[in-house]
Amino acid sequence: MSDASSNPSLVERAREAALRAYAPYSRFSVGCAIESVDGEVAVGANMENACYRLGVCAEIAALTAAQAAFGLDRVARIAVSGGSAEHGILSGESVVTSCGGCRQSILEAAQLAGRDVEVISSNGNGTQTRVDRISELIPHGFGPANLKDSG
Ligand code: THU
Repeated sequence: MSDASSNPSLVERAREAALRAYAPYSRFSVGCAIESVDGEVAVGANMENACYRLGVCAEIAALTAAQAAFGLDRVARIAVSGGSAEHGILSGESVVTSCGGCRQSILEAAQLAGRDVEVISSNGNGTQTRVDRISELIPHGFGPANLKDSG
């Protein structure tokens, strides 16, 4: 049996993950939660670096965790949330949609999985969400399926 406190929604898992971001430079905390076809969840948060361009997005951190936990080919749904993390609470009005590079990496998992993965984007407050398929976020994207004609 599960209830809301033991089985928080995927958006809540992403919001929780954002609280563990390392984002001292942008002060913008992003969390990502990835659910497998079997209901397992892997999470990640953005991790910045004093050499700014070396920062890692939350989605990449979560995809890495998902690959280790259950494999990219089993990814079913992804939730992303971001905003300001202060006093242990994530807040923010604007819905956070993944950057272009992260969309490309989600597409890689989606094509491996043979599934048009659902991406749930939410604001920091967790009060607004939008749901897209990765094919809508990166239409005509280049992925592993495009390499079938390689030599
Ligand atoms: N960020 C993510 O983690 N995911 C995205 O899709 C967009 C941006 C992070 C990178 C950086 O640490 C901070 O948000 C501000 O750009």
